[in-house]
Amino acid sequence: MKVYITRKIQSKAIKYLRDNGLTVSVYKEDKPIPKSVLIKNIKNIDALIPLLTDKIDEEIIDSMTKCKIIANFAVGYENIDVDYAKRKNIIVTNTPDVLTDSTADLAMTLALACSRRLFESRKLIDDGKFKHWKPNLLLGYEIKDKIFGIIGAGRIGEATAKRAYAFGAKIFYHSRSVNNKMEKDLNAKKVSLNKLLNISDFISLHIPSNEKTFHLLNKDNLKLLKRNAVIINTARGDIIDEVELAKILKKGKIFSVGLDVYENEPKIHPELLKLNKIVLMPHIGSATVEARTAMAMLAAKNVVNFLHWGKPITPV
Ligand code: DGY
Repeated sequence: MKVYITRKIQSKAIKYLRDNGLTVSVYKEDKPIPKSVLIKNIKNIDALIPLLTDKIDEEIIDSMTKCKIIANFAVGYENIDVDYAKRKNIIVTNTPDVLTDSTADLAMTLALACSRRLFESRKLIDDGKFKHWKPNLLLGYEIKDKIFGIIGAGRIGEATAKRAYAFGAKIFYHSRSVNNKMEKDLNAKKVSLNKLLNISDFISLHIPSNEKTFHLLNKDNLKLLKRNAVIINTARGDIIDEVELAKILKKGKIFSVGLDVYENEPKIHPELLKLNKIVLMPHIGSATVEARTAMAMLAAKNVVNFLHWGKPITPV
């Protein structure tokens, strides 16, 4: 049976697929595969392992005549037309859990980098402006005793909340359902979105991208934020209206913003690039050796388990 992988992933996973009797082909270049090349290579495959940069739409799905499983190398799967795949009897899997800690670590990294003005500090040094210690130089905010607002209390939201709680923050969250563990262990309180935006000093987003979450933070509700608010997004770019975000940050209506994801990735809105009080990362939430190896292995195991025994590990 044949598997096609749209980019070179961790070799351990490729070996695992081959050790389990599968013929593996990999797109050699380290950039998104052009649609025409993808279509040419997947006609007779049994399994596809794509990345979140590959749009697996109806045309791609139709071009695979015998594919049975699409095992996304990501926890998010908005790049795949899951409904259409289902109609074509193709199962879709993702890689939950294994990147929870790395992403939560990055959310906290951004929270601290923003609140303690890490990159502005480095710039001051690079610009030769660190002449002497000053009582008011680059003052930021502590996390202790602040309200840390989590939007989306799933796995990554909960892991981020745990970290913020360990820093002494009070945890509030907005989520579809109650997270009993967070309420019990972290004394977290569930509130409406508007209330969360209105009371939080830090806001961290942990929800998927879909039609319901598109521009969840927008012109109308971004107005509710406190002046010292720090917004962190390690989820998906289109959850926040970037134009409006740039406007309020430029006007000094919030303290800082930390982004790992963008509305039109890899393009970053030019207004955001001009601002100082913003920390920008190139979508590296899961970029640890541990997480990426585990993601590759989980994608590979989903394929092997499904093709050999009909049991995917993490179907979406
Ligand atoms: C995902 O998996 O959805 C992340 O955004 C990248 O690891």
